[in-house]
Amino acid sequence: MPQDADAKLRCALERRFADPPGAAPPAQGAETLAGMAARGAQRVFATQPLDEGLLRLLCAVALSSPTKSDLQQRDILRISDPELRRAVDGLLGDQTWAAGAPELLIFCGNNRRQRQLHAWRGRPFVNDHLDAFFNASVDAAIALGAFVTAAEAVGLGCCPVSAVRNHAQRLSDLLELPEHVFPVAGLALGWPAGPAEISQRLPLAVTLHENRFGSGDPRAEVEAYDRARAAAQPYAKQRFTGDYGEAPDYGWSEDKARQYSKPERADFGAFVRAKGFRLD
Ligand SMILES: Cc1cc2nc3c(=O)[nH]c(=O)nc-3n(C[C@H](O)[C@H](O)[C@H](O)COP(=O)(O)O)c2cc1C
Repeated sequence: MPQDADAKLRCALERRFADPPGAAPPAQGAETLAGMAARGAQRVFATQPLDEGLLRLLCAVALSSPTKSDLQQRDILRISDPELRRAVDGLLGDQTWAAGAPELLIFCGNNRRQRQLHAWRGRPFVNDHLDAFFNASVDAAIALGAFVTAAEAVGLGCCPVSAVRNHAQRLSDLLELPEHVFPVAGLALGWPAGPAEISQRLPLAVTLHENRFGSGDPRAEVEAYDRARAAAQPYAKQRFTGDYGEAPDYGWSEDKARQYSKPERADFGAFVRAKGFRLD
Protein backbone atom coordinates (compact mmCIF):
# COMPACT_ATOMS: atom_id res chain seq x y z
CA MET A 1 0.00 0.00 0.00
CA PRO A 2 2.67 2.61 0.87
CA GLN A 3 4.36 1.81 -2.44
CA ASP A 4 1.11 2.45 -4.29
CA ALA A 5 0.79 5.76 -2.48
CA ASP A 6 4.39 6.67 -3.36
CA ALA A 7 3.77 5.85 -7.01
CA LYS A 8 0.50 7.79 -7.01
CA LEU A 9 2.23 10.80 -5.49
CA ARG A 10 5.10 10.70 -7.97
CA CYS A 11 2.71 10.26 -10.86
CA ALA A 12 0.49 13.16 -9.74
CA LEU A 13 3.45 15.51 -9.38
CA GLU A 14 4.89 14.47 -12.75
CA ARG A 15 1.56 15.24 -14.34
CA ARG A 16 1.34 18.60 -12.58
CA PHE A 17 4.90 19.97 -12.89
CA ALA A 18 7.50 20.03 -15.67
CA ASP A 19 10.14 19.86 -12.93
CA PRO A 20 8.64 17.65 -10.22
CA PRO A 21 10.64 17.15 -7.04
CA GLY A 22 12.90 14.15 -7.35
CA ALA A 23 13.02 13.49 -3.62
CA ALA A 24 12.51 10.06 -2.14
CA PRO A 25 8.96 9.52 -0.93
CA PRO A 26 8.25 10.66 2.64
CA ALA A 27 8.42 8.12 5.47
CA GLN A 28 4.75 8.72 6.17
CA GLY A 29 1.83 10.63 4.74
CA ALA A 30 2.31 9.71 1.07
CA GLU A 31 -1.37 8.77 0.72
CA THR A 32 -2.49 12.18 1.98
CA LEU A 33 0.03 14.00 -0.20
CA ALA A 34 -0.93 11.93 -3.24
CA GLY A 35 -4.58 12.88 -2.73
CA MET A 36 -3.64 16.55 -2.45
CA ALA A 37 -1.36 16.47 -5.50
CA ALA A 38 -3.90 14.63 -7.66
CA ARG A 39 -6.82 16.88 -6.72
CA GLY A 40 -8.77 18.93 -9.20
CA ALA A 41 -11.65 21.30 -9.63
CA GLN A 42 -15.04 19.58 -9.83
CA ARG A 43 -17.87 21.39 -11.58
CA VAL A 44 -20.19 18.49 -12.40
CA PHE A 45 -22.16 16.95 -9.55
CA ALA A 46 -24.54 14.09 -8.86
CA THR A 47 -27.92 15.23 -7.59
CA GLN A 48 -27.51 13.14 -4.44
CA PRO A 49 -27.69 15.46 -1.43
CA LEU A 50 -24.94 15.63 1.15
CA ASP A 51 -25.43 14.21 4.59
CA GLU A 52 -25.77 17.18 6.94
CA GLY A 53 -23.65 15.49 9.59
CA LEU A 54 -20.82 15.03 7.10
CA LEU A 55 -21.08 18.65 6.02
CA ARG A 56 -20.88 19.83 9.63
CA LEU A 57 -17.91 17.55 10.21
CA LEU A 58 -16.08 19.02 7.22
CA CYS A 59 -16.84 22.54 8.42
CA ALA A 60 -15.40 21.70 11.83
CA VAL A 61 -12.25 20.25 10.22
CA ALA A 62 -11.88 23.29 7.96
CA LEU A 63 -12.35 25.62 10.92
CA SER A 64 -9.54 23.76 12.70
CA SER A 65 -7.08 25.29 10.20
CA PRO A 66 -4.62 27.96 11.35
CA THR A 67 -5.83 31.50 11.97
CA LYS A 68 -3.77 34.63 12.43
CA SER A 69 -3.03 35.23 16.16
CA ASP A 70 -5.88 32.83 17.02
CA LEU A 71 -8.21 35.68 16.07
CA GLN A 72 -10.49 33.28 14.12
CA GLN A 73 -11.63 35.96 11.72
CA ARG A 74 -13.53 33.71 9.28
CA ASP A 75 -16.89 32.05 9.18
CA ILE A 76 -18.65 29.65 6.85
CA LEU A 77 -22.19 30.37 5.74
CA ARG A 78 -24.18 27.44 4.34
CA ILE A 79 -27.06 28.31 2.03
CA SER A 80 -29.71 25.66 2.65
CA ASP A 81 -32.89 27.65 1.92
CA PRO A 82 -33.82 26.75 -1.70
CA GLU A 83 -35.32 30.16 -2.41
CA LEU A 84 -32.25 31.96 -1.11
CA ARG A 85 -30.04 29.58 -3.06
CA ARG A 86 -31.91 30.37 -6.26
CA ALA A 87 -31.43 34.08 -5.59
CA VAL A 88 -27.68 33.61 -5.00
CA ASP A 89 -27.34 31.37 -8.07
CA GLY A 90 -28.97 34.21 -9.99
CA LEU A 91 -26.00 36.46 -9.13
CA LEU A 92 -23.44 34.12 -10.67
CA GLY A 93 -23.81 35.20 -14.31
CA ASP A 94 -22.41 32.63 -16.72
CA GLN A 95 -21.23 30.33 -13.91
CA THR A 96 -24.33 28.19 -14.41
CA TRP A 97 -22.49 25.01 -13.40
CA ALA A 98 -22.51 26.20 -9.78
CA ALA A 99 -26.31 26.04 -9.68
CA GLY A 100 -26.00 22.27 -10.18
CA ALA A 101 -24.03 21.81 -6.96
CA PRO A 102 -26.06 20.32 -4.11
CA GLU A 103 -24.35 22.64 -1.64
CA LEU A 104 -23.08 26.18 -1.79
CA LEU A 105 -21.00 27.53 1.08
CA ILE A 106 -19.84 31.10 1.42
CA PHE A 107 -16.49 31.62 3.14
CA CYS A 108 -16.55 35.01 4.82
CA GLY A 109 -13.92 37.20 6.39
CA ASN A 110 -15.21 38.32 9.78
CA ASN A 111 -13.54 41.25 11.52
CA ARG A 112 -16.81 42.08 13.28
CA ARG A 113 -16.30 39.68 16.19
CA GLN A 114 -12.91 41.21 16.98
CA ARG A 115 -14.47 44.67 17.13
CA GLN A 116 -17.20 43.28 19.38
CA LEU A 117 -14.53 41.93 21.75
CA HIS A 118 -13.18 45.46 22.10
CA ALA A 119 -16.64 46.81 22.85
CA TRP A 120 -17.37 44.04 25.36
CA ARG A 121 -13.99 44.35 27.08
CA GLY A 122 -13.82 48.14 26.98
CA ARG A 123 -10.53 48.15 25.09
CA PRO A 124 -9.76 50.50 22.22
CA PHE A 125 -9.54 48.99 18.74
CA VAL A 126 -6.59 50.84 17.24
CA ASN A 127 -5.92 48.60 14.23
CA ASP A 128 -8.53 50.00 11.92
CA HIS A 129 -6.40 49.84 8.78
CA LEU A 130 -5.72 47.52 5.85
CA ASP A 131 -4.48 44.72 8.11
CA ALA A 132 -7.98 44.23 9.57
CA PHE A 133 -9.35 43.39 6.13
CA PHE A 134 -6.25 41.51 5.02
CA ASN A 135 -6.03 39.22 8.05
CA ALA A 136 -9.70 38.28 7.88
CA SER A 137 -9.36 37.57 4.13
CA VAL A 138 -6.34 35.34 4.73
CA ASP A 139 -8.09 33.44 7.54
CA ALA A 140 -11.09 32.84 5.28
CA ALA A 141 -8.86 31.68 2.41
CA ILE A 142 -7.00 29.26 4.68
CA ALA A 143 -10.30 27.78 5.87
CA LEU A 144 -11.46 27.48 2.25
CA GLY A 145 -8.28 25.60 1.30
CA ALA A 146 -8.61 23.32 4.31
CA PHE A 147 -12.24 22.62 3.45
CA VAL A 148 -11.28 21.67 -0.11
CA THR A 149 -8.65 19.22 1.16
CA ALA A 150 -11.06 17.73 3.71
CA ALA A 151 -13.92 17.42 1.21
CA GLU A 152 -11.73 15.78 -1.42
CA ALA A 153 -10.33 13.38 1.19
CA VAL A 154 -13.82 11.95 1.75
CA GLY A 155 -14.51 11.69 -1.99
CA LEU A 156 -16.54 14.84 -2.50
CA GLY A 157 -15.86 17.23 -5.36
CA CYS A 158 -15.79 20.99 -5.09
CA CYS A 159 -14.80 24.20 -6.78
CA PRO A 160 -14.42 27.67 -5.28
CA VAL A 161 -16.62 30.39 -6.76
CA SER A 162 -15.35 33.97 -6.64
CA ALA A 163 -18.25 34.84 -8.92
CA VAL A 164 -20.30 35.17 -5.72
CA ARG A 165 -18.56 38.54 -5.42
CA ASN A 166 -19.79 39.66 -8.86
CA HIS A 167 -22.58 41.51 -7.09
CA ALA A 168 -21.10 41.69 -3.61
CA GLN A 169 -23.60 44.15 -2.21
CA ARG A 170 -26.58 42.14 -3.47
CA LEU A 171 -25.10 38.96 -2.03
CA SER A 172 -24.44 40.74 1.24
CA ASP A 173 -28.03 41.97 1.35
CA LEU A 174 -29.39 38.48 0.64
CA LEU A 175 -27.21 36.90 3.34
CA GLU A 176 -27.66 39.83 5.72
CA LEU A 177 -23.93 40.20 6.24
CA PRO A 178 -23.31 42.85 8.90
CA GLU A 179 -20.56 45.49 8.94
CA HIS A 180 -17.03 44.10 8.77
CA VAL A 181 -18.22 40.72 7.44
CA PHE A 182 -17.62 40.10 3.73
CA PRO A 183 -17.64 37.21 1.25
CA VAL A 184 -14.22 35.93 0.18
CA ALA A 185 -15.41 33.07 -2.04
CA GLY A 186 -18.16 30.54 -2.42
CA LEU A 187 -17.55 26.81 -2.57
CA ALA A 188 -19.78 24.64 -4.72
CA LEU A 189 -19.80 21.13 -3.35
CA GLY A 190 -21.25 17.70 -4.00
CA TRP A 191 -20.59 14.12 -4.97
CA PRO A 192 -18.74 14.15 -8.28
CA ALA A 193 -20.48 13.06 -11.46
CA GLY A 194 -17.31 12.61 -13.49
CA PRO A 195 -13.58 13.11 -13.15
CA ALA A 196 -12.19 16.32 -11.68
CA GLU A 197 -10.20 18.65 -13.93
CA ILE A 198 -6.55 18.42 -13.01
CA SER A 199 -4.57 21.49 -14.06
CA GLN A 200 -0.88 21.55 -14.75
CA ARG A 201 0.98 24.07 -12.62
CA LEU A 202 3.76 26.51 -13.43
CA PRO A 203 7.12 24.84 -12.88
CA LEU A 204 8.74 25.02 -9.45
CA ALA A 205 11.55 26.94 -11.18
CA VAL A 206 9.10 29.83 -11.48
CA THR A 207 7.10 29.57 -8.26
CA LEU A 208 9.51 28.19 -5.66
CA HIS A 209 12.15 30.66 -4.46
CA GLU A 210 15.03 30.31 -2.07
CA ASN A 211 16.43 33.10 0.06
CA ARG A 212 15.89 35.84 -2.48
CA PHE A 213 13.14 36.37 -5.01
CA GLY A 214 15.59 37.26 -7.75
CA SER A 215 15.15 39.43 -10.80
CA GLY A 216 15.03 36.69 -13.42
CA ASP A 217 12.49 36.96 -16.21
CA PRO A 218 10.31 33.82 -16.18
CA ARG A 219 9.02 34.36 -19.71
CA ALA A 220 10.80 31.38 -21.33
CA GLU A 221 9.57 29.01 -18.61
CA VAL A 222 6.05 30.41 -18.78
CA GLU A 223 5.99 29.97 -22.56
CA ALA A 224 7.22 26.39 -22.22
CA TYR A 225 4.46 25.84 -19.67
CA ASP A 226 1.95 27.31 -22.14
CA ARG A 227 3.01 24.78 -24.78
CA ALA A 228 3.02 21.78 -22.46
CA ARG A 229 -0.30 22.72 -20.93
CA ALA A 230 -1.92 23.39 -24.30
CA ALA A 231 -0.83 19.94 -25.49
CA ALA A 232 -2.08 18.13 -22.37
CA GLN A 233 -5.04 20.27 -21.45
CA PRO A 234 -6.13 22.58 -24.28
CA TYR A 235 -8.68 25.31 -23.50
CA ALA A 236 -12.11 24.37 -24.82
CA LYS A 237 -12.88 27.98 -25.59
CA GLN A 238 -10.84 31.13 -26.17
CA ARG A 239 -11.81 34.32 -24.35
CA PHE A 240 -12.97 37.52 -26.05
CA THR A 241 -12.42 36.36 -29.61
CA GLY A 242 -14.48 39.36 -30.76
CA ASP A 243 -11.66 41.62 -29.54
CA TYR A 244 -8.61 39.42 -29.91
CA GLY A 245 -9.51 36.83 -32.57
CA GLU A 246 -8.71 33.11 -32.48
CA ALA A 247 -5.10 32.50 -31.46
CA PRO A 248 -3.50 29.44 -33.10
CA ASP A 249 -1.34 28.84 -30.03
CA TYR A 250 -3.77 29.74 -27.26
CA GLY A 251 -2.23 28.91 -23.91
CA TRP A 252 -2.41 29.76 -20.23
CA SER A 253 -0.63 33.11 -20.47
CA GLU A 254 -2.84 34.28 -23.34
CA ASP A 255 -5.95 33.13 -21.47
CA LYS A 256 -4.93 34.96 -18.28
CA ALA A 257 -3.83 38.09 -20.14
CA ARG A 258 -7.17 38.15 -22.00
CA GLN A 259 -9.08 37.53 -18.77
CA TYR A 260 -7.58 40.49 -16.96
CA SER A 261 -7.76 42.78 -19.98
CA LYS A 262 -11.38 43.30 -18.92
CA PRO A 263 -12.48 44.68 -15.57
CA GLU A 264 -13.63 42.16 -13.00
CA ARG A 265 -15.36 43.23 -9.80
CA ALA A 266 -13.98 46.75 -10.00
CA ASP A 267 -16.56 47.78 -7.39
CA PHE A 268 -15.27 45.39 -4.72
CA GLY A 269 -13.11 48.04 -3.03
CA ALA A 270 -16.12 50.33 -2.70
CA PHE A 271 -18.13 47.42 -1.27
CA VAL A 272 -15.41 46.64 1.29
CA ARG A 273 -15.17 50.30 2.32
CA ALA A 274 -18.95 50.43 2.65
CA LYS A 275 -18.67 47.43 5.01
CA GLY A 276 -16.75 49.75 7.31
CA PHE A 277 -13.16 48.87 6.46
CA ARG A 278 -10.51 51.54 6.16
CA LEU A 279 -7.92 50.26 3.72
CA ASP A 280 -5.08 52.71 4.48
C1 LIG B 1 -10.55 31.75 -4.62
C2 LIG B 1 -10.96 31.00 -5.86
C3 LIG B 1 -12.03 31.46 -6.59
C4 LIG B 1 -12.47 30.76 -7.72
N1 LIG B 1 -13.58 31.19 -8.40
C5 LIG B 1 -14.02 30.48 -9.45
C6 LIG B 1 -15.20 30.88 -10.15
O1 LIG B 1 -15.84 31.87 -9.83
N2 LIG B 1 -15.60 30.10 -11.19
C7 LIG B 1 -14.91 28.97 -11.56
O2 LIG B 1 -15.35 28.31 -12.50
N3 LIG B 1 -13.80 28.59 -10.94
C8 LIG B 1 -13.35 29.30 -9.89
N4 LIG B 1 -12.23 28.90 -9.22
C9 LIG B 1 -11.56 27.67 -9.62
C10 LIG B 1 -10.34 27.98 -10.45
O3 LIG B 1 -10.74 28.52 -11.67
C11 LIG B 1 -9.57 26.71 -10.55
O4 LIG B 1 -8.61 26.87 -9.56
C12 LIG B 1 -8.98 26.45 -11.90
O5 LIG B 1 -10.02 25.98 -12.68
C13 LIG B 1 -7.85 25.46 -11.87
O6 LIG B 1 -8.20 24.34 -11.15
P1 LIG B 1 -7.47 23.99 -9.82
O7 LIG B 1 -6.79 25.24 -9.34
O8 LIG B 1 -8.54 23.57 -8.88
O9 LIG B 1 -6.52 22.92 -10.15
C14 LIG B 1 -11.78 29.59 -8.12
C15 LIG B 1 -10.67 29.14 -7.37
C16 LIG B 1 -10.27 29.83 -6.25
C17 LIG B 1 -9.10 29.30 -5.46
